Amino acid sequence: MADPFGEKALDKKITLDGVPVLNGAGVVDSAVFETTQQIQRDDEKVALNRTRINRTLNVVVIGTGYVGLVTGAILADQGSNVTCVDRDPAKLEVINRGESPIYEPGLEEVIQSGLKTGHLKTSTSIPESVATADIVFIAVGTPPSADGTPDLTAVMQVVQEVGRSIKQHITLVTKSTVPVGTGNLIEETLVRMGVDPNLYDVVSCPEFLREGCAVADTKNPDRIIIGVNDPGAETKLLSLFSRNRCPILVINRTSAELVKYASNAFLAVKISFINGISRICEQSGANVDDIAAGMGLDHRISPKFLQAGLGWGGSCFPKDVQGLSKVGETMGFDFEMLKAAEKINTDQVLHFVGRIRAELGSFSGTRVAILGLAFKPNTDDIRDAKSLEIIKILKAEGAEIIVHDPVAMDNVKAIHPDLTYTKTGEETVHDADVTILVTEWAEYGRLNMDRVAQLMRGNLIFDGRRFFRPEEVKSAGLKYFTIGS
Ligand code: UGA
Repeated sequence: MADPFGEKALDKKITLDGVPVLNGAGVVDSAVFETTQQIQRDDEKVALNRTRINRTLNVVVIGTGYVGLVTGAILADQGSNVTCVDRDPAKLEVINRGESPIYEPGLEEVIQSGLKTGHLKTSTSIPESVATADIVFIAVGTPPSADGTPDLTAVMQVVQEVGRSIKQHITLVTKSTVPVGTGNLIEETLVRMGVDPNLYDVVSCPEFLREGCAVADTKNPDRIIIGVNDPGAETKLLSLFSRNRCPILVINRTSAELVKYASNAFLAVKISFINGISRICEQSGANVDDIAAGMGLDHRISPKFLQAGLGWGGSCFPKDVQGLSKVGETMGFDFEMLKAAEKINTDQVLHFVGRIRAELGSFSGTRVAILGLAFKPNTDDIRDAKSLEIIKILKAEGAEIIVHDPVAMDNVKAIHPDLTYTKTGEETVHDADVTILVTEWAEYGRLNMDRVAQLMRGNLIFDGRRFFRPEEVKSAGLKYFTIGS
């Protein structure tokens, strides 16, 4: 199907410093950027006139979840006037006190500085905020619906309310991860509502931040992607991001929506790939870390996201891998590679738990210590966390479960109030038959293995992240098992 969304073909424009300097380029590498920098220097004045707006931009960010709050706080930190909008006044009260409703290292400091300078404000009213806005980001949730496609209810409600509030020109930007074609849907909705088309642009600007390092990622992103269907629609965003030193790629809107899915799905496939290799390592005696190191030395592969473990979880990879599969299906393409990656990811936990069961004989009546509940370190997020999958099996098979996490315990308690929650890693392993490391929090790396051996009644350590030092574990008299060996 050629051009299924009726996109106008736009030249790719790669920009540096928010200044478009190269048209029609397909390759993004350092040589290209050296050239673009030179062109930028030569052509600076014209380019600056073309892309910078000489006043502070008023930005509205609707939704104060991970993406919305971090985006809003950082833009305020960079000097824009930002209003973070949420319908939950309790959440806004927390933000107005200079606190963060989510656990994210460094975020409170940025919020506090935004409140102090007056660049960061909050509101429950979309109409009031949109009344003075130049740019409106939609950053509300798009949870998976029953069939795996992202649920756009919240996004479309926001679009309707924004549509009713538009009095002056705004650039309406999707920041939430939305299915391919959502920008067109938004535009169609605004047209149906009879909003003057001269008063808005609909743009896609996907977010690439990682939980746990969201502040650093947003301050120093690898790239900014701006998806527009109308030439010139990117102007306000280029101005907004003019302080960023990273490449800015301006492409058509559907491509921008798809870049987000493609990036997350690719990273998930990469992790599943190394986890597949880990299964071969288990049988062959090869070392999966050494293989990742050897592969990663090839610049085309890179060592990042090649850490074998229990697999990928969180609010993004599982949802986006499924989402891209669905997009493929609607286009008549069966993206089997994604299904294989999902299968490896599901099997990874089942296989690991199977190995523990085999060592114990049965889980019934055993005492199992779990270190780490969050889907990864430095977050309290437990969405699609591997800990939950493991707990479900252990509970069904009659184990007594003792758990610890530095920040995510309250979230798990809400689902599993019947587990034993402890204050420290040492307390968790007390009298345990087996200790399972699920999340590689730095503090577990400081556990003294001799002390762990004294405290446990059994001697089995199952490391789901290849995190402990095997020699240290073994020399404490414990039996060490990990992914890939
Ligand atoms: C991911 C992407 O990395 C971000 O670029 C993107 O913006 C975000 O999704 C999103 O769509 O909002 P995030 O889910 O915060 O970020 O977490 P990652 O650091 O990517 O980790 C995802 C999962 O993969 C975790 O469960 C982690 O433990 C696992 N992982 C990661 C591995 O098993 N091995 C690795 O080598 C890397």
